[in-house]
Amino acid sequence: MRIYECADYRAMSRQAANIISAEVISKPDCVLGLATGSSPVGAYEQLVEWYKKGDVSFKETRTVNLDEYRGLAPDHEQSYRYFMQKNLFDHIDINPENTNVPNGLAEDVDAECARYDRVIEELGGIDLQLLGMGHNGHIGFNEPADSFPLGTHVVNLTESTIDANKRFFASEADVPRQALTMGIRSIVLARRVLVVVSGRDKADIVRRAFLGPVTPQVPASILQLHPDVTLVGDRDALSELMRGGAAL
Ligand code: GLP
Repeated sequence: MRIYECADYRAMSRQAANIISAEVISKPDCVLGLATGSSPVGAYEQLVEWYKKGDVSFKETRTVNLDEYRGLAPDHEQSYRYFMQKNLFDHIDINPENTNVPNGLAEDVDAECARYDRVIEELGGIDLQLLGMGHNGHIGFNEPADSFPLGTHVVNLTESTIDANKRFFASEADVPRQALTMGIRSIVLARRVLVVVSGRDKADIVRRAFLGPVTPQVPASILQLHPDVTLVGDRDALSELMRGGAAL
């Protein structure tokens, strides 16, 4: 695993955007696995800036997002489709047809999950998967569980995830209780994985994910088995991984 310890969120975002743009420049039709949440927003901003300067083009790039809330329409302000449009897609030259987000409104969710796995397979898998990390170690919306869920599936969000995400909604009651998420298989089969983490509140889970046992109770710990993971974090988020002394 490569680790980049950055001074702050801005430097972390710039470093992550560098890695993503290098992928897009060296393989213009690459498949990017994309993430939502506050961690990747700065990297998206940086990519938009470089696109506007003419330094990178997404004309041929294909994307698959990790997850979507169940029950939210694409134009709902808290849906992940809306997030992606607002933070990235609307500002770059990507072909809308080449962007994929699970359909949160699908009536037959099992069919939608199967369709999403087929989309990823037909794209030939993911070249670079961008990931944030939840406080309980979730990646995408793969919550702690007794086993690693393999394919795209519907998940009941944990109280801690609902609590962490309520800041984006008018009230906690408005936070959807379920989501559709890519499974662990598509994530570990990605050729490269890029994890972005920021803030002191992530320090403990970062240490447990990368130095603790590999267990589905900490979904991100599976990344220890991946051959090409790059972790880009600010000093606060990496503080326990790099310098923490206590036993796990
Ligand atoms: C959500 C997303 C995850 C994301 C996590 C962390 O639960 N489904 O993909 O990694 O939030 O979010 P943040 O980056 O805001 O801490």
